[in-house]
Amino acid sequence: MIKSGALEMRSTCGSFVTMAVLVLILCLGSLLPVTSFEADIDKEQSLTLAERMAKTSMSLWAVTGPAKDRFQYELGVFLRGIELVWEATDDKKYFEYIKFKVDRFVANNGTINYNFTEFTLDNILTGRLVLSLYERTKDNKYKKAAQILREQLRQQPRTHEGGFWHKLTYPYQMWLDGLYMAEPFYAEFAKLFHEYNAFGDIAKQFIIMELRSRDSKTGLLYHGYDESRVQNWSDPKTGRSPSFWGRAVGWYFMAIVDTLDFFPMYHPKRVQLLAIVNRLAIAVKKVQDQKTGLWWQVLDKPNKKGNYLESSASSMFVYSYAKGARKGYISPVYIATAKKGYEGIVKNFAVKLSDGGLNYTRIASVGGLGGTHYRNGTFEYYISEPIVTNDPKGVGPFMMASVEISRSTPV
Ligand SMILES: *[C@@H]1O[C@H](CO)[C@@H](O)[C@H](O)[C@H]1NC(C)=O
Ligand SMILES: *[C@@H]1O[C@H](CO)[C@@H](O)[C@H](O)[C@H]1NC(C)=O
Ligand SMILES: *[C@@H]1O[C@H](CO)[C@@H](O)[C@H](O)[C@H]1NC(C)=O
Ligand SMILES: *[C@@H]1O[C@H](CO)[C@@H](O)[C@H](O)[C@H]1NC(C)=O
Ligand SMILES: *[C@@H]1O[C@H](CO)[C@@H](O)[C@H](O)[C@H]1NC(C)=O
Repeated sequence: MIKSGALEMRSTCGSFVTMAVLVLILCLGSLLPVTSFEADIDKEQSLTLAERMAKTSMSLWAVTGPAKDRFQYELGVFLRGIELVWEATDDKKYFEYIKFKVDRFVANNGTINYNFTEFTLDNILTGRLVLSLYERTKDNKYKKAAQILREQLRQQPRTHEGGFWHKLTYPYQMWLDGLYMAEPFYAEFAKLFHEYNAFGDIAKQFIIMELRSRDSKTGLLYHGYDESRVQNWSDPKTGRSPSFWGRAVGWYFMAIVDTLDFFPMYHPKRVQLLAIVNRLAIAVKKVQDQKTGLWWQVLDKPNKKGNYLESSASSMFVYSYAKGARKGYISPVYIATAKKGYEGIVKNFAVKLSDGGLNYTRIASVGGLGGTHYRNGTFEYYISEPIVTNDPKGVGPFMMASVEISRSTPV
């Protein structure tokens, strides 16, 4: 898992042979010396903030938690943040903690204490940590556990076009969130266990989601798509939910920059994924708040009463821009977008604690569609959910963003 910067740089350039000219420029661009905007946040500072966040969250969720204490995405996104802090510091205590948290759900025989037949993509994400543990320890139980999650994806119900349902209780629905929940795991698994044929399916998930949810005017993606048009939130013509929710677009953006890490260099669909992430980068930058560098809960309605600058989406975008630029998936100019966002995050959302920890504030607690307490997907719905501190969906991305910022700053 731990790679040297030089190796990553080389593999990034190598990956672009098919787009020779453009890509040469991109890769050379990312090797250029420090530009003025990079001087503002130094490497030590952002990594220290990530460690502070790790300290607070590892103490909050020392044994149980976060959230419902299940093998699902809130655990997964939090531990992904811890994993990046581990990679950046090489401090064993982070690895031990990840192993402890995962082992609470993965038995010695490799079974996972979770409900397979719910067919929820939300349960796949923690599989990324299972794969990390397998690569690090070579303990066969992690391989068996990962194979169970792979099997869930094999049996996962799909739309007629081949898109994964978000879960069994949300039939014929694709949500942007689901791409982050499933695809990076799916891609890492396929790479590790040589399932070359899976990559066409993985690319297809992103392509269908973009095709069905992208607004041609703004370039932004609507939160959900209901192929069946049964849901009240779905537009009868397009099947789309009505709003651009910040965190949902953040999940999708992170999903694509993480999936590309595992995607074969010469796969014919790689170019399509790069085109999608470049379209998205343009659209999301347009809705960045100019004053603060942050993003709004409902992305395209900055001035509407009740809207607010939301911290989980802001960290997700900073992570995606910084990583995408560092790895050459998007132009290196987006480092500036990330830095500007990160400065706003540190200034507005990060509260340093006297014990050396940190609180991450202003996180939208949830955002869903449909369900029993019916969520209608309107602006009014998204601003009605509580705003909380130290929710794992903000804590994890804040650590990821912080580590990425530290990586993007030349030493
Ligand atoms: C695997 O271990 C778990 C927990 O110890 C146990 O509940 C389960 O029955 C075992 N499954 C098999 C197939 O051995
Ligand atoms: C697992 O989920 C399925 C589908 O929602 C449900 O029918 C079943 O009762 C659940 N099993 C357990 C053990 O909770
Ligand atoms: C959906 O909307 C219709 C009318 O527009 C309403 O009668 C129905 O109760 C709504 N259903 C839900 C679950 O909100
Ligand atoms: C930090 O967050 C916790 C909740 O996780 C809260 O109880 C505490 O008061 C906060 N501290 C500060 C200084 O804001
Ligand atoms: C949608 O739900 C919100 C609350 O979540 C409510 O305020 C609003 O009136 C609802 N809108 C419609 C059109 O049902």
